[in-house]
Amino acid sequence: MNRADFPIFKGQPDLVYLDSANTTLKPRTVIDAVRRYYEDYSANVGRATYDLAERATAQYESTRNLVADFIGANPDEIIFTHSASYAINFAVFGLKKFLHAGDVILLTEYEHNSNIIAWQKVAAETGAEIVYLPSSRAQRGNLDRLLRSARNGKKIKTFSYSLISNITGELFDHRELSAWIRARGGLVLVDATQAVGRMSVDVNELNCDFLVFSSHKIYGPSGVGVLCARSNAQTKLEPIIYGSQTFTSILPQTTELSHDYSRFEPGTPNIEGVIGLGAAIEYVNSVIATHDQDLTQYAIEKLEQNDLKKYLIGEPQVGILSLNHPTIHPHDFAMLLNQKNIAVRAGKACGDILMQKLGLNRGVVRISFGIYTTKTDIDKFIAEYQNAIGRLT
Ligand SMILES: Cc1ncc(COP(=O)(O)O)c(C=O)c1O
Repeated sequence: MNRADFPIFKGQPDLVYLDSANTTLKPRTVIDAVRRYYEDYSANVGRATYDLAERATAQYESTRNLVADFIGANPDEIIFTHSASYAINFAVFGLKKFLHAGDVILLTEYEHNSNIIAWQKVAAETGAEIVYLPSSRAQRGNLDRLLRSARNGKKIKTFSYSLISNITGELFDHRELSAWIRARGGLVLVDATQAVGRMSVDVNELNCDFLVFSSHKIYGPSGVGVLCARSNAQTKLEPIIYGSQTFTSILPQTTELSHDYSRFEPGTPNIEGVIGLGAAIEYVNSVIATHDQDLTQYAIEKLEQNDLKKYLIGEPQVGILSLNHPTIHPHDFAMLLNQKNIAVRAGKACGDILMQKLGLNRGVVRISFGIYTTKTDIDKFIAEYQNAIGRLT
């Protein structure tokens, strides 16, 4: 059973952890990989020429290969950052010269705050305009209007969307729209932060230029994010931070930057975190891919049986479900659930724009699964959610 792979349950066997969309728990193999680095070869990478440093560099670079294989990219398209948020910022501000007044930055109403704020900032700085794909299917007609106006001069220069909503757990297929935009010179960024680790993700199938995700949400250490920048798009990207290991030559007044991904990785990286991410990917590769989808179906059925499905937001598909009770505050639910050792996310869960659109000003109770989540966890949650309704109404 996967639970046995996670040491946290040894000390807390009754813990019901339903907040994996926030961050996942860590398996023994990841903890061991980080510990081994500290204990056996904790040297810097990429610069020294002794055995310890060469071992550290080889281990660090092997994660780049693993990540590339994992998402169907080439190793030299993988850039390590500090989180998905950093990866998005690297792409957004790195594309500043690509955006001009009147250009359209296309987002969706389902985006995590981290995939909105940086775009707003760059829009303000360049005069580009942010347009949101509406969340409601009925309003999607707006898209036609947008595409028509794109033909008439306004250009969709970038399209950035989350593959799985961090609020509703819905999976979005924007491959056709992405192809349309790319065929006209636009660039597509996929925020796969909630998807990687929950389903197989392939940058070629997604038809995108950039893809981002965070290590800590796929069972790896925090402090590491991945920006996959396809080779064609990498040439349009400018570094936004400079430092050692990023250049081929340096003179008193000028520096010639490297022509490969290393120009985007200044200074000493989070070596142990990247090595831990490698162990996490090996772990994820070894476990059943449909686990989260199966549990989601189970949770929906259970909610229905208990007359709670009416509180569900959207049509969850993969590992994340949000509930909105008409009168009880999400924080009150979370407090009572916590008393039963059940960890959930309560509030807007970094989906402020979607919450505004749905009129959910207090947010939601969100549960999200990991590979250690069991049907018993879901049963316990549903029983306690119902008890909470009894106590709070
Ligand atoms: C869809 C999505 N994108 C981006 C992020 C930001 O990730 P991080 O906090 O690791 O930067 C999150 C975090 O919840 C997310 O769910």
